[in-house]
Amino acid sequence: MERLQKVLAHAGVASRRKCEQLIAEGRVTVDGQTITEMGYLVDAEKQAIAVDGKPVAAEQKVILLLNKPTAYMTTVSDPEGRRTVMSLLPQVAERLYPVGRLDYDTSGLLLFTNDGALTERLLHPSRDIEKVYRVTVEGKVDKEARQRLAEGIELEDGLTAPAQVEMLRQGDESVVQIAIHEGRNRQVRRMFEALGLPVKRLKRIAFGPIALGHLKTGQWRLLEPAEWKALYRSVELTPPPYARPTFPKVERKERPARRGKKPARHGTRNRKKS
Ligand code: URA
Repeated sequence: MERLQKVLAHAGVASRRKCEQLIAEGRVTVDGQTITEMGYLVDAEKQAIAVDGKPVAAEQKVILLLNKPTAYMTTVSDPEGRRTVMSLLPQVAERLYPVGRLDYDTSGLLLFTNDGALTERLLHPSRDIEKVYRVTVEGKVDKEARQRLAEGIELEDGLTAPAQVEMLRQGDESVVQIAIHEGRNRQVRRMFEALGLPVKRLKRIAFGPIALGHLKTGQWRLLEPAEWKALYRSVELTPPPYARPTFPKVERKERPARRGKKPARHGTRNRKKS
């Protein structure tokens, strides 16, 4: 159950303040009954809401992709006041939240959506969604280390599933691309630490069928329609109609109309003495 003005605003009807005004003016009905009570609780999934007799459509589904920089928390708000990924997103009417989590010191691909069913499926362990990371480690990743990653590594929360490993650079600092199918806490860092290879940088470059591509760090983009369909299909959901988020209109302050020139003051200054 949610407050009526919040449901209206999230459905893209108008700003929260304007929605309150619509309610106060008696223009909103819930199941055919006019509601003027502020904070009236509704179930948007089950109840019929209308403004001026026109049904309010359920919140459309939207998906955004962010190239997360390091030093941002993957949360909607942080009690310690640290910067969160939400501050990098545009203001939209839909309630977006991150699909899963990247560590504070991890960068790369992070999806945001308001589709709970999609999120649930993408994160469900039984789905084995592939995540690809580019990992920079201190030291060489020798054949034995690569084999252990490929076969599974014993961590304190159990054996990891086999990973696909590709060497990108071998040296005092090595770069590896690794594809995993699980989403345990700090999993990639712990896998390399177990091999005695501390992780210096970690970046996610793909999530299921979605690749980060050339998006700059700190920037976001919408999914392409083809990516949208591929993402839904990857978790056996019928893709809903492709939609862009609702960017709220900037409400301009009305300027008072200009009323011509100021009338001249009829004071005594400069008046010639007679
Ligand atoms: N694995 C990690 O160790 N950290 C992340 O942020 C993601 C995967």
